[in-house]
Amino acid sequence: MRNGTGAIVVMATLKGGSGKSTAAACLAAHCQLGGVRAAMIDADPQASLLHWQGLGDPPLDLPIIADTSEAVAQRARELARDVDLVVIDTAGFRNRTMIEALSVADMAVVPIKASPLDIAAAIDTVRLIEEVNATEERRARPMSYRLLLTQVTVGSAVARHVREELAQSGYALFAAELANRVVYAEASLVGRMPIHIDAESAAARDGEAFAREVRLALGW
Ligand SMILES: Nc1ncnc2c1ncn2[C@@H]1O[C@H](COP(=O)(O)OP(=O)(O)O)[C@@H](O)[C@H]1O
Ligand SMILES: [Mg+2]
Repeated sequence: MRNGTGAIVVMATLKGGSGKSTAAACLAAHCQLGGVRAAMIDADPQASLLHWQGLGDPPLDLPIIADTSEAVAQRARELARDVDLVVIDTAGFRNRTMIEALSVADMAVVPIKASPLDIAAAIDTVRLIEEVNATEERRARPMSYRLLLTQVTVGSAVARHVREELAQSGYALFAAELANRVVYAEASLVGRMPIHIDAESAAARDGEAFAREVRLALGW
């Protein structure tokens, strides 16, 4: 973990339903259980994360701050002084808040549903990240980014096809994938993630592998 300020990881895709909020909560939960001081910013006007946390009795002990404004970058920087990891969940469309969040990101995670129809949205998102990296303030310190396959149907060739297509086009992907598992919905009903329900479950292992890769990428 870094001295001084924590890392800022932004979940970004220009498409709803790609698995951003799930991947965001998964990352924060696994890191927190691994001893990382984690906090989240819910920058989506739909407030999925706040709603999810509110279903818990008691609510999961994980700071989640709502900020859908253009001040999200400043907010994230301030929060990163107090914690090791700030995970920002964004809305599924291009807006100023998403660009502001990306402007302070150490890393962007681009969740993509393992469907050929979602490839275009992921590529548009990567283009936006590259635009941010090309700005004067980020040119010397570009964020890293990787695509994360989510909602993968176990045993189907579709995810492999999507992965190969993206890799051939030069996009970096996480080796980890979040398979499509009903335990996400079950855990959500009680404001938790699969790791909290059964740490040995297949979904928890997916999440752990994803979080481990993020931590390695951040140099932890
Ligand atoms: N790996 C997964 N397995 C099963 N359901 C998932 C998975 N990831 C996401 N979902 C479900 O798909 C829907 C969209 O996911 P969500 O994380 O809310 O996407 P986004 O935030 O990008 O709109 C939600 O109902 C969520 O519970
Ligand atoms: Mg969401």
